[in-house]
Amino acid sequence: MRYLTFALAKGRLAKKTLALFEQIGITCEEMKDEKTRKLIFVNEELKLKFFLAKATDVPTYVEYGAADIGVVGKDTLLEENRNLYEMMDLGFGKCRMCVCGPEEAKERLKHNELLRVATKYPAIAKDYFYNEKMQTVEIIKLNGSVELAPIVGLAEVIVDIVETGSTLRENGLAVLEEICPLSARMVVNQVSLKMEQKRIRDLIHALCELPRYKNDGKDVTA
Ligand code: PRP
Repeated sequence: MRYLTFALAKGRLAKKTLALFEQIGITCEEMKDEKTRKLIFVNEELKLKFFLAKATDVPTYVEYGAADIGVVGKDTLLEENRNLYEMMDLGFGKCRMCVCGPEEAKERLKHNELLRVATKYPAIAKDYFYNEKMQTVEIIKLNGSVELAPIVGLAEVIVDIVETGSTLRENGLAVLEEICPLSARMVVNQVSLKMEQKRIRDLIHALCELPRYKNDGKDVTA
């Protein structure tokens, strides 16, 4: 039996994913050691390998088959637009992709004015403004702390993730428009799904049997 390899987005999503996998008997003890500098973790008994990657790289590892399975946020999937199968909404990491800014910008958004939009997600912003809203905007790519942009005058609005809303509130900004809901997704390499169909289906079926997914867990392999 060959190894099935998982790429997990570093941070909170990875922790939640491992906790979830434990519930179906998939464990990886060496991954729990927070001090380790190891990059690959192995469960020899189940022939599984796990690695942690930067969220934006997870779809790349999965598309190229370096990982069979990935767990990453829908925001990253939309932005990266890779060729892979999105198999399951894991339901955690829930947040929203929104257009945010000072309240005053709401009118300007409505009146289709030429605005500057700062974002870590230029593809999502482009798709929303150009294809959905048919609105011409200038998109400025940033790499973090995007809320700064309207405060210091770099852009009128931002496209960013809103979870609790506290970053916005503490900086005098608000949600002006909602683009889409987000959460963690399980994705699978297209060839792996054919070659390792049984193991991958069994994994998804086991997850869908958990009480948290019993009613709404979708298994698109069925
Ligand atoms: C994300 C996002 C917002 C914040 C939203 O940033 O870009 O800034 O979290 O969360 P909240 O609604 O609960 O306040 P992240 O912490 O990932 O860092 P970044 O700003 O450097 O991208």
